[in-house]
Amino acid sequence: MAVNNQKKSQIISRQRVAERGEVFTAEREVNAMLDLVANECLRPDSRFLEPACGNGNFLTAILKRKLSELRRKYKNSPYDYEKQAIVAIGSLYGVDIMRDNVDECRERLFSIWNEEYTAHCKSEASEEARQAAKFIISRNIINGNALTLMCVDSEGNDTSAPIVFSEWSFICGNQIQRSDYTMYELLQKKEIRERTLFAQRDEKNEEGGTFLRRYITHYKKVQDYGE
Ligand SMILES: C[S@@+](CC[C@H](N)C(=O)[O-])C[C@H]1O[C@@H](n2cnc3c(N)ncnc32)[C@H](O)[C@@H]1O
Repeated sequence: MAVNNQKKSQIISRQRVAERGEVFTAEREVNAMLDLVANECLRPDSRFLEPACGNGNFLTAILKRKLSELRRKYKNSPYDYEKQAIVAIGSLYGVDIMRDNVDECRERLFSIWNEEYTAHCKSEASEEARQAAKFIISRNIINGNALTLMCVDSEGNDTSAPIVFSEWSFICGNQIQRSDYTMYELLQKKEIRERTLFAQRDEKNEEGGTFLRRYITHYKKVQDYGE
């Protein structure tokens, strides 16, 4: 599907502004803010979570920065580029309560990823890797309520399913590990870390936590395991 990554109006309708506070951030402001954390935007594994991501103005801009750095770094190695491009897309997380925003955010991310990937890996680009990237995006960009931490239905009402994020990490060679955590648990862990730091205790003791599921697969086969 062709995706429009061109500049769009910051406001779609008065009703959406009134009901959901929807005003998209302009490209200039997005880039000015990202410049404040410019180095983090270059590291493929540096994680970003936008709890009200809209149609993805921040996440797409971060992805572009990460991929352009990878292109520079892995100019002559499509294999390394492909793996790191998977890491980069796996590092971006978003939640939005409006289903159409989530759909658009996912489509924009995939379109940018696929365009860059295809241009760089050329004949070595594979459909499997594209499907893996698409699957990762579908897990990372969630239609949910960032206040209640629950997934929502098409009307934006809470369901009984909690928001669950997948952590993607290469563990050895081409094996990638997906570990699923509820957003609630991740936020709790953050609080624990902050309290631990304050109390000057050993942070490592508090790490680990529990997780819901774990899958280990070849990075091009993540879409074959779990939903
Ligand atoms: C001001 S817009 C910002 C969008 C995007 N972050 C940007 O800067 O372009 C706010 C967004 O928050 C979403 N939103 C409102 N309430 C929310 C909630 N409780 N949970 C998740 N998203 C929410 C809206 O649908 C809208 O897309």
